[in-house]
Amino acid sequence: MSRVWNFSAGPAVLPEAVLRQAAEEMLDWHGAGMGVMEMSHRGKEFMSIAEAAEADLRELLAVPSNYRILFMQGGAIAENAIIPMNLLGTRRVADYVVTGSWSMKSQKEARRYCEVNIAASTESSGFTSVPAMTEWKLSADPAFVFTCTNETIGGVEFPFEPDLATIGRGEVPVVADVSSHILSRRMDISKYGLLFGGAQKNIGPAGLTIVIVREDLLGRSVPDCPTAFDYKTVADNGSMYNTPPTYAIYIAGLVFQWLKRAGGVAAIEAQNVAKAELLYGYLDQCDFYENRVDPACRSRMNVPFFLKDERLNEAFLAESRAAGLVQLKGHKSVGGMRASIYNAMPLAGVQALVDFMRDFAARRA
Ligand SMILES: Cc1ncc(COP(=O)(O)O)c(C=O)c1O
Repeated sequence: MSRVWNFSAGPAVLPEAVLRQAAEEMLDWHGAGMGVMEMSHRGKEFMSIAEAAEADLRELLAVPSNYRILFMQGGAIAENAIIPMNLLGTRRVADYVVTGSWSMKSQKEARRYCEVNIAASTESSGFTSVPAMTEWKLSADPAFVFTCTNETIGGVEFPFEPDLATIGRGEVPVVADVSSHILSRRMDISKYGLLFGGAQKNIGPAGLTIVIVREDLLGRSVPDCPTAFDYKTVADNGSMYNTPPTYAIYIAGLVFQWLKRAGGVAAIEAQNVAKAELLYGYLDQCDFYENRVDPACRSRMNVPFFLKDERLNEAFLAESRAAGLVQLKGHKSVGGMRASIYNAMPLAGVQALVDFMRDFAARRA
């Protein structure tokens, strides 16, 4: 068996130890005589898997006790509708900070449910930075302020936590799409009203959506919110109002255990810093490639880069693939290349990429 270095933006590389354990437990989970996919979600075996996964996630992110962790379905894109349906209450307006394709999509969907005020946007400068909070123009009484704290496509990551108290608006809940950097760095959950993300980047298989929501925000849904997407219903039923994505929760739980064995979020953050420094460090010191994001806002997880001579793109992709480095093509809206280097990508994978890039540049310069 030979495995490639997989730089996919998601679904993405998973820790090999997790895949091996899942393979070992495929036919018989801990003597149950059946695999996890075959278990009733209400049986004691699966209940223990789900409870452990939730407890481990709570521990890893230091989620305060007044926050609920929900395991949902529909992905982050469904949350773009589910969030306004749940948080609007009697308010009419929600504020959006637009820093790239994903927050752009979020505000567009929200317009079906409420008035949207664009509190700040970096569209005119090509989505390469994050506007300082002092520049955000919040509306008078928004239901929430929406942010995407890591824009997977543009490779732009918030270098600060969006703490509205610092601009005198601490009463407004901050919502954050953390799909592509959850668990990659320490976060102060208490600064947010709600965090959400699809699991298929840093957590596990597609099909599971994580929502972390402050308790006082439950019970505000609009009357036509589907029952299965009403956060209060989901919370009251321990994420089992409908059948949850059981296998995805199981794999997520194995990833959480892997992270704990690796030393938790602070330890993985240190590794992520080292990986990002290696790749950006190389990009910055050569004149064959470039990254166009404001250095202060560069994502540690998603690194878009361009060959200065774009005529070499196809050769770069073909040769990198032949060298066992896959999924490096940039998103079609940005072009160029993109290397996603999530938690499960070891430093050795980033080193292999940099070695290939250096070699390619030497041969083609
Ligand atoms: C930041 C961000 N938000 C939203 C999405 C959409 O997620 P999904 O396809 O799970 O709905 C993605 C990813 O693909 C993403 O990276």
